Amino acid sequence: MAQRLRLEGLAYGGDYNPEQWPEEVWAEDVALMREAGVNLVSLGIFSWARLEPRPGEFDFGWLDRIIALLHEGGIRVDLATPTAAPPAWFQKAHPDVRPVTADGRVLGYGARQTYCPSSPEYAAAAARITRELVARYAGHPAVVLWHVHNEYGCHVARCYCERSAAAFRDWLRDRHKTVDALNEAWGTAFWGQRYDSFDEIDAPREAPTAVNPAQQLDFRRFSSDALLALYTAERDIIRAADPDVPVTTNFMAGLSDNLDYWSWAREVDLVATDHYLTAERADNQIGLALSADLTRSLAFGEPWLLMEHSTSAVNWQPRNIAKRPGEMARNSLAHVARGADGVMFFQWRASRAGAEKYHSAMLPHAGTDTRLWREVVDLGARLRELAPLRGSRVRAQVALVWDWESRWALELEYRPSVDLDFRERIDAYYERLWRAGITVDFVHPGADLSGYRLVVAPSMYVTRAAWAENLRAWVRSGGTLLTSYFTGIVDENDAVHPGGYPGALRDVLGVRAEEFLPLRRGETTTLVAPPRMDGAAAAPGTASRWAEDLALEGASAVLQHADGPAAGRPAVTRHAFGAGTAWYVATAPDTGTLDALLRAALADAGVHTPSGLPDGVERVRRVGADGRDREIVINHTLSDATVPGPEGPVSVPAGTVRVLASEPLESVGSPTDQ
Ligand code: GLA
Repeated sequence: MAQRLRLEGLAYGGDYNPEQWPEEVWAEDVALMREAGVNLVSLGIFSWARLEPRPGEFDFGWLDRIIALLHEGGIRVDLATPTAAPPAWFQKAHPDVRPVTADGRVLGYGARQTYCPSSPEYAAAAARITRELVARYAGHPAVVLWHVHNEYGCHVARCYCERSAAAFRDWLRDRHKTVDALNEAWGTAFWGQRYDSFDEIDAPREAPTAVNPAQQLDFRRFSSDALLALYTAERDIIRAADPDVPVTTNFMAGLSDNLDYWSWAREVDLVATDHYLTAERADNQIGLALSADLTRSLAFGEPWLLMEHSTSAVNWQPRNIAKRPGEMARNSLAHVARGADGVMFFQWRASRAGAEKYHSAMLPHAGTDTRLWREVVDLGARLRELAPLRGSRVRAQVALVWDWESRWALELEYRPSVDLDFRERIDAYYERLWRAGITVDFVHPGADLSGYRLVVAPSMYVTRAAWAENLRAWVRSGGTLLTSYFTGIVDENDAVHPGGYPGALRDVLGVRAEEFLPLRRGETTTLVAPPRMDGAAAAPGTASRWAEDLALEGASAVLQHADGPAAGRPAVTRHAFGAGTAWYVATAPDTGTLDALLRAALADAGVHTPSGLPDGVERVRRVGADGRDREIVINHTLSDATVPGPEGPVSVPAGTVRVLASEPLESVGSPTDQ
């Protein structure tokens, strides 16, 4: 159960790095924060070298002073443990904590995150600074949230040094118990990889060719767990000393695939994430929405915190495209629409020096006489007006299955086609649902599905027997499942479910494929409705990437390939199973066909598809505990739009956001500048 932040209204603020500025600037910072309506800052994220300038010697004076200033100014603190930036003295004293890459390169320091996740010296030093920090600030009235580390796994997600290999062996002993069980699970009979003892096993370092896939998959799991253990160690130190203040760490949901956030999500008191647009993409609001929906799902529907995004350009993309007027507010309110109870930025004041000096900030290099600053102030005012949204929920009837194990396994070598890509298929389905105005949750394949009417599983390649049973039981009891190709193929060890594809779900889908028939680069096939059957799509459509030598075993063909390697074979099937329905989309259909298929599956599931939503307009409902729903309508286009409202059409000018309350209809706040 997420603990609520001791804050009024929605959180607004950003990373604050006062140590980059002379103390004279701090008073101005606090005054400007107040002007902008900032109520929360993340403090001390990279301050280890300032807080512990020499081993065991601590200097908290400056932090005392800035926390006091912030407190006097009524600004709350999200206090960070500084462990993402071990100081130079630590690196000099422990050269073997430097991470090693799969190809044996030892990484240096002078940046950040230079540490091996399995280093006992790092863990001890991180625990010591955490203990000192929390002993000093536990119970401080300004500190409302603890921010452990920063973006675990962002730069170093996996280390291949000797100590990591030893820790991996311990993890394997725990998971597999005996080396015989490991040999069986990994299929080491193949290529003579049999191990006689755990001691013979190495990290999956770069080898002449593909390292055992189950070994690689276990190493991904181990590496996520190794970082999680560092997080929980710091969290437990904090909890013991300051039990009433929630503890979090900032995820990179939808951006990074290094950590299995389903297991991490259980360990935080409040889910927080960072999100950065892929700035060059014209439709980047869809990736933003996906990240926000995924974050809400990691929070199991509870409100969450957007810990970082950017006011304008970042500094690390090939072309750091600046946000145009109104875009920062649209981005911010899109996160709020999807369940965020706060909007924070990296960072408060733009740095003059260092690697991120060209990253935008709330207070730009050019100061307060800027369009950006005025928008920051306006956004603060708007968020204050939207305070009643706090604590309200987003409800979804449709879920997309998201699983990091499938993603990791699909990244391994030697798959049937390079076009098999977890994220590509998820994005293909998410985008069509977003454009249809359907709000989705993401679910783990083993999750309780009883609250959903339609579950879409585009890339559930790893399908443990228990997960298949979870889906089977849910469809049998009346659910509608739509899966895409290369789902249900392997177990947790990347071993194929035998008997024909998609092994684990054949009975539910009512189909059986003998062989995969991947298409050539750029090749398409024609999709048609089979003779004498009702097509769900207006035929003909086209398919790309994938086909299968698929036979019906109880399902009906909805579409078939008219040409190509699977000519005459079903491409899309529908199967009545128990009280439910299971669709199988055994190819990548064009978007019009995909839309039609999704409409048909939504109709099977009894999900209402909103009408009258212009393309590029986003509309999401937050359901208030007070019984008042509020809908956030965001016009991402350059044209004025009109959407249906409870009391007639509502205009949403180009590039603006309107918040509609259910009863009576009202507009909260004013449209953003355009
Ligand atoms: C990440 C980090 C921040 C900063 C931003 C820049 O989110 O957490 O410290 O580097 O990226 O976009």
